[in-house]
Parts: sequence; structure tokens; C-alpha cells
Amino acid sequence: MQRVAVIGAGPGGLYFAALAKKLAPHREITVWERDARDDAFGFGVVFSDETLDGIAQADPPVFAALSAEFARWSDIDVRYAGQVRTCGGHGFAALDRNRLRAVLQQRCAELGVDVRYRTPAPPVARLAADHDLVVAADGVRSATRAALAEAFRPELDERHCRYIWLATDKVFEAFTFIVEQYDFGALQVHAYPYSDRRSTFIVEMAEEAWRKAGFEEPAGRDLGRGQSDLPSVRRCEQLLAPHLDGHRLIPNASRWIRFTTVRNASWHHRNVVLLGDAAHTAHFSIGSGTKLALEDALALAAALQESPSLEGALAAYEAERRPVVESAQRAAQASLEWFETVGRHTGQGVEQFAFNLLTRSRRVTYGNLRARDAAFVDAVDAAYGGAVEGEPGGGSGGCAGGEAAGRGSTSGDATSGDAACGGTTSGDATSGDATAARTGPGGTAPDGGGGGGRAAVPPMFRPLRLGRLGLRNRIVVPPLATFTAVDGLPSGFDRAQLAAHVLGGAGLVFTGMTAVSAQGRATERCPGLWTDAQEAAWRSVVRAVRELGDTPLGIQLTHAGRRASSTVPGPDGIGRALADGWPTLAASPLPWEAAGPPPRPAAPAELAGVAADFAAAAARADRAGFDVLGLQFGHGHLVSGFLSPLTNHRTDRYGGPLEHRLRLALEVLAAVRAVWPAGKPVVVRVSAADWAPGGTTEAEAVAICRALADAGADALDVSTGEVVAHQEVPYGRGYQVPFADLIRHATGIPTIAVGAISGHDDANSVLLAGRADLVAVGRAQLYDPLWTLHAAAEQGYTGPGARWPQPWQPGSRRPPGPGADRVAPRLRLLPEAAVPVHRRWLPPHRPDTRPPDAGPPDAGSGAAGSRAAAGRPGADPPDAGRPDGPPGRAAHRPDGQPGHKPTEAVPN
Ligand SMILES: Cc1cc2nc3c(=O)[nH]c(=O)nc-3n(C[C@H](O)[C@H](O)[C@H](O)COP(=O)(O)OP(=O)(O)OC[C@H]3O[C@@H](n4cnc5c(N)ncnc54)[C@H](O)[C@@H]3O)c2cc1C
Ligand SMILES: Cc1cc2nc3c(=O)[nH]c(=O)nc-3n(C[C@H](O)[C@H](O)[C@H](O)COP(=O)(O)O)c2cc1C
Repeated sequence: MQRVAVIGAGPGGLYFAALAKKLAPHREITVWERDARDDAFGFGVVFSDETLDGIAQADPPVFAALSAEFARWSDIDVRYAGQVRTCGGHGFAALDRNRLRAVLQQRCAELGVDVRYRTPAPPVARLAADHDLVVAADGVRSATRAALAEAFRPELDERHCRYIWLATDKVFEAFTFIVEQYDFGALQVHAYPYSDRRSTFIVEMAEEAWRKAGFEEPAGRDLGRGQSDLPSVRRCEQLLAPHLDGHRLIPNASRWIRFTTVRNASWHHRNVVLLGDAAHTAHFSIGSGTKLALEDALALAAALQESPSLEGALAAYEAERRPVVESAQRAAQASLEWFETVGRHTGQGVEQFAFNLLTRSRRVTYGNLRARDAAFVDAVDAAYGGAVEGEPGGGSGGCAGGEAAGRGSTSGDATSGDAACGGTTSGDATSGDATAARTGPGGTAPDGGGGGGRAAVPPMFRPLRLGRLGLRNRIVVPPLATFTAVDGLPSGFDRAQLAAHVLGGAGLVFTGMTAVSAQGRATERCPGLWTDAQEAAWRSVVRAVRELGDTPLGIQLTHAGRRASSTVPGPDGIGRALADGWPTLAASPLPWEAAGPPPRPAAPAELAGVAADFAAAAARADRAGFDVLGLQFGHGHLVSGFLSPLTNHRTDRYGGPLEHRLRLALEVLAAVRAVWPAGKPVVVRVSAADWAPGGTTEAEAVAICRALADAGADALDVSTGEVVAHQEVPYGRGYQVPFADLIRHATGIPTIAVGAISGHDDANSVLLAGRADLVAVGRAQLYDPLWTLHAAAEQGYTGPGARWPQPWQPGSRRPPGPGADRVAPRLRLLPEAAVPVHRRWLPPHRPDTRPPDAGPPDAGSGAAGSRAAAGRPGADPPDAGRPDGPPGRAAHRPDGQPGHKPTEAVPN
């Protein structure tokens, strides 16, 4: 690997060239860059401490040069609805992108890399023939990727929002998210400082809002390379004037664009390899573009050094980087979708909104934020009704704001926060009253908050009322079929499983799917509820389980439709058509798998019979003693098959438009509601997406759920998929949660989030962010039936939301782990300095002049003191760390970096 060609002198190309040359000085490395040395777009780039540690280790001179330039801080300010909430403990470093390039250019020059500016790269085929290796670091619109598209198989996903990348000469003190509601819709700003005189300022909004706001017209004008859309810049300046305090927005080739997520099936082909934006992009809201490019560069240079062959090196590079990048892209996807649908959350109270924003990518969680800034989480907890046990609004049943039970009350979670929230004050971010506008350290939770006093009740242990039923906590055991029934009778294992889950502490426990007729069984081993014997068997199960605890019990009723007459599912969780099964019924004669026997399209009279079967089974379930009725209207079962346009091709009054496709669901629900007691909840499971082209849309899912709520459903259990066999599901942690969020906010009906939620931290995050009212944990509660009680022990929670069975009380504390009896000696002469939670960016020429007890400085724009001080010639630089300030606050300046605490991932 003597001769290396690099296309593009962006951060990725330059850093790779420098490291590869440093590791093997004999290499000939040539970089082609079409722009001039000093041409540069973009403003500030932001890094996490984690990336900086990598840079520090890889090439100390580069790190030393960069360090001198960093703006550093740890706070995130969320400005929303005229208020500001601040969360500390994050760890950011940012600098001017042009300075980053200059440092890398300088390093390349020192090491003897040949960088040719104003020189477009020769065609890749020629470079590949003349060099051992070609590194394509030619950016998001990579011509190399396009030329070798057959090999790389790129996927370019252009997203829905419009954004414009700008700077401002207002120096923000923290990473700042601004979400403002205008008559044209919501607008958001992602802003962060990157020097002592500039901040990056990205304005973003959904396409529809952007059009309504009238930005389309100026954007339509032809702009030459490097020109900016000045009318739009001025308009943004006016709209956001309250946050700019008289400062300017500064364009640099700035125009409205849409973010494109770049993915490639392969990153290397023969001796050509993609790096940085050419290989992948991740939405700017997680601040990862430059960071990922630099990490790629480091990994590729290392792989070339470590592997004896080029092929091996490129394969190792891709194998190492792909999972890291895909993880960042998953987070970025969740984050960009959150911002695309930000209007969904703009009805929330400010605490909950701030928490929701900070946890949007799923990387940052409840526990994670608590470790960073306990006071912030305490304030959100309190606003959600999670005051300390025994206090008003505490977990003993008050649950003031958090009791989202009952239709129409779901977005009110945070509204009672002020009462429970002690010292939290709400102010106007744009009014210039910086002292009143934020949650500050110690000013939040009851009992002093700050994590120092008694703990707040974790969100999962807050009670909830569903209909007239009180639930002790927010964890549900979803339907988990055991496939152990004989003749439709629940088995000993069904009984044992229910018993285990009742003992395990969840707030609501469901049986697995239970058929309303012999024909409606998914498999021969499914239980049913269409005979007296089955009713008696279920009554006996309920009676036995009741002796163990009073946890509400739900039963899920179903007719499996075209998924009936299947084998017991194998490892993929999907049953296959029985070779010698029974005739099945469905909306249309479409088999689940092409080779399977087609179901018979149901005649209207048969459908009336199905509704009657559901009603009869519901009446039996009531007599058997169940508290909650679950209806399986998802997963391709009979009713689901009518709802989805993919599986309902009928032309009668049960097919065609959504009102027709909904008919069977509403008839079944009405029939059930007529016999099921009014105070007992009905919970309907839906598949809110089919994960296949032409399937149920988001708007249809909302309309379906709204109709079900109007017809008497008390809660929606929001699952997805299993409607068609050719689905392509983007599995991942909590991947279905956005659908519960969508339904909850669009309809106001309580929702259950389900699917790959395995840890209590994730459950708490979902609940506290207001994405769902309940969380169903399936397989994790098969792994550990005491999951809920163990979650209580791990969180140190001992209140009424988690009741240990009396005989097991002695085991209610987490047992000591291996090595717990080892006592560590003191190994430090002096105590390590505590890392302050709140660090603001306060460069010397912009001193913090506010009083020491004012909370984190200048989270509110318009803070009169800060603005007056900014740019005041000759102002005395305040001391780094402000020894006279309140505990837990420190300022960061280029020359003083107190408390470099490695934390993961910024800004989310
Ligand atoms: C308008 C805009 C503004 C941005 N601003 C910021 C910002 O402020 N902060 C931030 O963190 N990120 C910003 N980004 C994202 C960030 O630039 C990228 O994520 C990051 O730079 C990726 O680094 P890279 O080296 O892979 O690619 P790039 O930085 O894009 O570098 C690619 C280089 O290749 C050169 N090139 C392309 N084709 C050829 C060719 N045929 N011959 C020779 N040279 C070629 C280009 O001129 C360019 O210099 C911005 C992106 C855009 C589109
Ligand atoms: C063994 C097993 C049986 C299941 N049985 C049912 C069922 O009877 N009815 C149903 O609606 N979903 C059923 N599901 C789906 C679960 O209710 C749940 O939606 C799914 O497992 C995703 O949650 P998890 O990732 O927490 O496991 C079953 C899942 C498993 C693993």
C-alpha cells in the first residue's frame, strides 16, 4: 500500500491522510480537493468527549492544536413555550469547522502529504489503476459512490423537513434547542457555540410549515454555487429575533435543503473505499457528521496498519465501523423523526417536553439523564406526578399530573407539575427575566430534589386508572401464548405462567390469545372460550391465581382469521399453515404464505356470527372473573385482516374505504361492549403499521384508533406488523414506541407501548416522555417473571407500586454480587475534584454578570446582563469556575477546562 489517493480534503479525507502518513511515512499520499485551500462551508463542529479521547490518543499534535480552540460546556437549554429548561452533565466541545480543516491541513503539510487544492480528482477508474488504494472522502454527494453504484448499492433517503445551516454572532452558552409555534406551524432551532464570537444556528421545519410560512418562494430562485438565500435568512432573523437579542444571522452558502440519510450496502469495492459522508450520514440533530468522518479515518488508518492485505484491511475497517455507524444512524433516525413530528409534542408541559426532546433518540434515557443531572430529572418527575412517596401527588395513589387514565386526559400529564414541583419556577425565556426562567440546581423536586433527599417514584411505579380499574404500576405483561392447551382448555402451564406474572409484580397481566371459536384458533394448542368447560377451566385458573395477589387479570380474545389452522410457531415466532388443518375465514382469499391454502372470504352473515362469538366469549370472560378484556385486532388476525388494505380486497360494505374496512372491528367492539361491564376496561391491540408497501398509513392508524376509542375502547395496545408475510420490520430497541406516541397524541386515548422494551430505564423514559401510559414487556418477563420486582429493587423503590409477595419478603433486596465483601482501600491522597453538573460557555469577552444565585446563566435569551456584557470592551474576564457561584456550576473558557468528564454522545 505504497500509493494512496484520497478524493476530498474535508475533515475525513485530511485526517485519514495525516494518520496514514504518520503510521507509514514512506507512503505516497495524494489528496485531491476541488475547492481552494481556504474555501469552506459550514460553521461549528461539535464533538463528544468520547471522540476527543480517540483523537487525543491517535495524534497528540492534532489534539493539542484543536484543544486550544474548543468551546466547552455541559448544559443543554431547551427553550419552548416561552420558557427554558436546562439539563447539565453532558460534555460538549465544539470548534470552527474551518479551524478544524486548517489544523488538519497544517498537520498534513508537516507530515508530507501532497494536498492539491483547486484540483478535481481524476476519474476513479484511473485513480484505482494508478494507486494501491483510493479513499473516497468526497462528501454526501460523492461522485465516486455514484460511479460505482452497482458495487456500493447506495440508498439515499431524502427526509421531510427543510433546514438552513447558519451562524450567528450571538454566543450561546449551551447547546440550545428552540421550539417555537407560529401560525404556520412549529419551527425548531439547533444552536451551539463554537468560538468566543460565533454559534452555529440551524433552522428547521416540516415541509408543510415551511411552505405555509412562505419560504418556498425565495428558495425557488436560482442561486449560484456559494450564494445564500438572503431573503430567507432575514426572515428567520425576524422570526427568531427574541432569541437573538439583536444579533445577526450569518449565512455562508446557506439555503434551504432537505437532509439525506446515506446508507451503502457495501463500503468497499476492490481497492476503492468510502469514508465519512460518502459512506453514511446521520442527521445533524445528533451532532455526528464530522465525528463519524474522523472516527472512520482513524479506523481505516489503523486497519491498514494492522492487516497484512488490503482486502483484509478494508473488510476489517467496514466490519469495525458499520455497527458503530448503524447505531448512530438508528439514533439519528429516531431523532430526525422526532423533529419531523415535533408538533405532536407541542401540547406538553415544559418539563415533559424538555425530557421528551432529550430522550428522543433512545440513546439518552431516564437513568442516564438522572446520572448527569438529577435535579433536572427530579423536576420532570415531579411535574409528571412522581412526588416523593407519601407526599401529595406521590406514588401512593395521588399521581396528580401523571394519572393519565381515561380518554382525553393523556396530554395533561405535566399540567399539575407546579404544585408538586416545589421550587420550579416558570418564566419567559424571551422576556429578559433570566432569573425566573429555568429549573435550577436544587430548585426542583420536593425535599430539595437534586437527588439528595428521598427518591421520587420512578415513572413505572406510578398508579394509573383505566376505566374504574386501578393499576398499581405501569408495567403490563402482554399476551404471551403458551401453545399448551388441549381441546381449548387452558393448561397447567397457562395457570403457572399467569401465577408467575402475578407474583412478578406487573400492574396488569394478560393471558395469551384465547379463541372465540374452534375455527378462530391460531393453532390446535391455543385455549378458547366458547364452551362451558373452557369457561369453568378459566374460572378455576383465575380463582387459583387470585390467591397469590390481586393484580388485575386480562384475557385476550381473538379470531385468528387467515392465521388460524397453523403450526405452533417456530423460532421466528410465526406459525405455518397446517397440512391437515381446518378451513379458515378471512376478508379476502389471500393465504398468509403464497403456498398455503387460501382462506374463505367471510359472508356478511358469518361476520355477524363472529361478532356474536366475541360477545359470548366476553360474557364468559366476565363470569370467569377477568378484569380486563383484550381484543386482538392486530397481527393479521381476522379483524386486522379487514382493517389493512393489503389483506382486504372486498368490494362490499366491509371493504374499500377505511369506514368500510372498520365495520367489522366496530361491530365486534359494539357486541362486546354490550355484554362486558361498563366499568371494566377493554384494551384493543392494533397493528399500527404493516411494514409493507401499500399498507396501513399513519393517518389510517390514527383514524382506526380514534374510531375504536369512540366505540368504547379504554386503551390501545399499539403493536405493528405480522399482517403480511413479506413485511420488512426495522427491529430495534423500542422500535414500535413512536406508534404508541402517535396514537396517544393524536387521539388522547391511553396507549400501551410494546416491542423490544426490555429494561426499566427504557420503560421509565417512555412513560416520563409521555410516549405511552403503560409499557408492555413481553419476552423480558419470560426471561425473568419477577422483572418488575427486580426493577424496583434495582431502583431502590419500595413503595406500593411494587408489592413483593409476603412469603418472599426476605428476598426483596438485591442480593450482593460477587466480590461485594471486598472493601477497597483508599488510593488517592487528595480527593478528586467533583465534576460540576452545569458548565456554560462563557468566553472571556462575554462575562457572566448575573448574580451568583441566579441558576445557570443566560439560558433565557434576552438576559439583559449577559447581553450588555457581550461585546463590552474591556470587561474583566470572570474567574473560571466561578468559585463564588452556586455549587455545581462552572464556566468553561479556552484556557480553563475544569472537570473533563468522559460522557457518551452529544447532543443526544
Ligand atoms: C451546507 C452544509 C453545512 C454543514 N455545516 C456543518 C457544520 O457547521 N458543522 C458540522 O458539524 N457539520 C456540518 N456539515 C456536515 C459536515 O460537513 C459533514 O458531516 C462532514 O464534513 C463530513 O466530512 P467528510 O470529510 O466526509 O466530507 P466533506 O466535509 O463533505 O468533504 C468532502 C470534500 O470532498 C471534496 N470533493 C468532492 N468531490 C470532489 C472531487 N471530485 N474532487 C476533489 N474534491 C472533491 C469537497 O469539495 C469537500 O471538500 C455541513 C454539511 C453541509 C452540506
Ligand atoms: C411466546 C410469545 C407468545 C406471544 N403470544 C401473543 C399472543 O397470544 N397475542 C398477541 O397479541 N401477541 C403475542 N405475542 C406478542 C407479544 O405480546 C409482544 O407484542 C411481543 O413479544 C413484543 O414484545 P417484547 O419485545 O417485549 O417481547 C407473543 C410473543 C411471544 C414471544
